[in-house]
Amino acid sequence: FEVTWDAEAAEKGGHASFMEKEILEQPKAIADTLLGRTDEDGKLVLDEMNIDPDRLRAIDKIIIVACGTAFYSGLSAKYAIEHWTRIQTEVELAHEFRYRDPVVDDRTLVVSMSQSGETMDTLMAVKHAKELGALTVSICNTYGATIPRESDAALYTHAGPEIAVASTKAFTAQIAACYLLGLYLAQLRGGTYAEDAQAVMRELAEIPQHVDTVLGSMDRVREIARFMSDTRSVLFLGRHVGYPIALEGALKLKEIAYIHAEGFAAGELKHGPIALIEPGQPVFIVMPAQDSPYDLHAKVVSNIQEIRARGARTLVITERGDEAVRPFADEVIEVPRTSVMMMPLLSIIPLQVFACELATAKGLDVDQPRNLAKSVTVE
Ligand code: G6P
Repeated sequence: FEVTWDAEAAEKGGHASFMEKEILEQPKAIADTLLGRTDEDGKLVLDEMNIDPDRLRAIDKIIIVACGTAFYSGLSAKYAIEHWTRIQTEVELAHEFRYRDPVVDDRTLVVSMSQSGETMDTLMAVKHAKELGALTVSICNTYGATIPRESDAALYTHAGPEIAVASTKAFTAQIAACYLLGLYLAQLRGGTYAEDAQAVMRELAEIPQHVDTVLGSMDRVREIARFMSDTRSVLFLGRHVGYPIALEGALKLKEIAYIHAEGFAAGELKHGPIALIEPGQPVFIVMPAQDSPYDLHAKVVSNIQEIRARGARTLVITERGDEAVRPFADEVIEVPRTSVMMMPLLSIIPLQVFACELATAKGLDVDQPRNLAKSVTVE
């Protein structure tokens, strides 16, 4: 009689892949990232950043630099950061930023986003920013990694070790950390959103619970993924905070399922993507909240009508109670209702589950996709 045990299988805790395990760990990853960042009154305290508050008050521009999934988390967070702080916020791929002559000075805050803290291009972007006099903050998931050490300050995500090459829990934790930074700046600088920071923090604190609800309702998404394992191409449309989520949903599918996938801003539909629509083309749509500003919900409903009239199969991710979209959706994937800025933290979950399940159904190595590395430490 011989007892065999597999250390890796044990670490996966009964899950088919690390990616699946990490997707399910997101409620904890987000909760841990928020933990201990407020005082008894619910005011944000980011003492660990250890930056002179006067320096932060003087900031007149934020540039977020990152690669891959971290870049999309920055794009997602930009909407809220700008809205809350009223500071112009740009998001740039680190490898583009480092090889040009960006407008940066000592009133610029360059926020680098990196799970590993070792991505070469992101590190070099930080060095470039420092040379230009910027204040640098690293949002990182790996304590003591090179990027946080090279930065003026670090704000750690507490997602725990991420093993799968395709990033999931680090992504949502990065958005949460960016929100903390945005609210902290709003609080520090006063202005319209300073008083709201505590209320937003309370909403943020409820997100882990909502993510848990989404994770508990993914049976249909898994079924769809298995049906679609032979699909050659999937499109993703989103608008406002749903746009970066469409990009990240497409990236997940490319990375691990090797399916041609592209994300678009729904407003661009008429400028190209609609030419790709032919009968049977699957399209995921990340809906804006029903109470989104600028009537965006109605605008995206009309986009869905346009692509459906051309035969697209529409898979719609929207908040619970969205009846307006139902007549035009082949599938409705519901997430709990939250405020607009919280939606990306929920709407990404079905897209992660979809990619993971589809790649698993294809028999692929979900955790170690071909040609990709967890951390790109060369140029
Ligand atoms: C690689 C990984 C991605 C990750 C990106 C940035 O491409 O495969 O999952 O998003 O690097 O990594 P970082 O560690 O800087 O977040």
